[in-house]
Amino acid sequence: MHRVFSGIQPSGVPTLGNYLGAIRNWVPMQDRHDCLFCIVDLHAITVWQEPAQLLAQTREMAATLLACGLDPKRCVLFVQSHVTAHAELAWIFNCVARLGWLNRMTQFKDKAGKDREAASAGLYVYPNLMAADILAYKATSVPVGDDQRQHLELANDIAQKFNHDYGTEFFPRIEPFIQGVAARVMSLRDGTKKMSKSDPSDQSRINLNDDTDTIALKIRRARTDAEPLPGHLAQLESRPEARNLVGILAAVTGTLPENVLREHEGQGFGAFKEVLTEALVAHLSPIRAEMLRLLQDAPALDAALRQGSERAEAIARPVLAEVKRLVGFLPRG
Ligand code: AMP
Ligand code: TRP
Repeated sequence: MHRVFSGIQPSGVPTLGNYLGAIRNWVPMQDRHDCLFCIVDLHAITVWQEPAQLLAQTREMAATLLACGLDPKRCVLFVQSHVTAHAELAWIFNCVARLGWLNRMTQFKDKAGKDREAASAGLYVYPNLMAADILAYKATSVPVGDDQRQHLELANDIAQKFNHDYGTEFFPRIEPFIQGVAARVMSLRDGTKKMSKSDPSDQSRINLNDDTDTIALKIRRARTDAEPLPGHLAQLESRPEARNLVGILAAVTGTLPENVLREHEGQGFGAFKEVLTEALVAHLSPIRAEMLRLLQDAPALDAALRQGSERAEAIARPVLAEVKRLVGFLPRG
């Protein structure tokens, strides 16, 4: 049995990209593996978060994950800042990772933008904290969207350097699990940018709490081109917006983009968008309803998260104790 770990930032309402690229793949893993899913608030504050909003979004994220099918009886669902092992191990990893490795991270470059001097130090060492998240549980399988591939390579580099420097085989190899036709869902406004909960334009994404009218409007306004749909995927290569919408329909209806094209070949986007809207609404409205229901009982949500953090802590505690021993820290007497 593998141990599975994945995380999601409470930096906004989860999007269709989070759902298709990550969350949806987590649900069936609960029955086959020992799973931990973490709401990574320490990662979220690497860019500014309004405190009241962060608090609300953390509960919203928990409600959404439960509504999508994570079951606290079959997985460990918890909040990162509730388990101090993450921050402690991250510090040790700050001292293992090399500046040269962090300098290669494309997500830092994207998120820091032009004014790199003004980015937080936390944003820079973000991947070290992510490595700590996974390795505090010695997890070996990490289901994520395609954008996290480079971070997982870095996590493996950290694990190997730690093992090498301290003469041990303590940390296992991490295998990324990047799956599905929708490992990369793109913005509805720009087919070359990923759909993101932190994009300034709400029109660029479908949020999992969007109602039917909002979904319909966003899809109707989604950028496309004037050509009808072709019969083959290769013909969509230079049409990123069209390819994205085809990929989304394939993912929510559980088929391949090739089959979507076969069925809709020659159609214009007017008709295609109606089909897409219908499929999205059918898929997302039960999730939205359940999420709204769960949010009405904040104490129950908080209690479920507290139980999750207790279970997570019980796994991480002995791992961290062994790391401290390997590093040569004096045991607390
Ligand atoms: P984040 O929103 O950055 O916390 O990401 C949480 C999870 O969703 C990660 O596994 C990401 O790889 C995945 N993810 C985020 N945005 C997308 C997207 N546009 N397409 C596919 N997966 C995504
Ligand atoms: N960096 C991930 C993202 O933004 C979230 C994350 C934090 C994560 N820690 C993790 C994902 C550990 C997988 C494993 O998408």
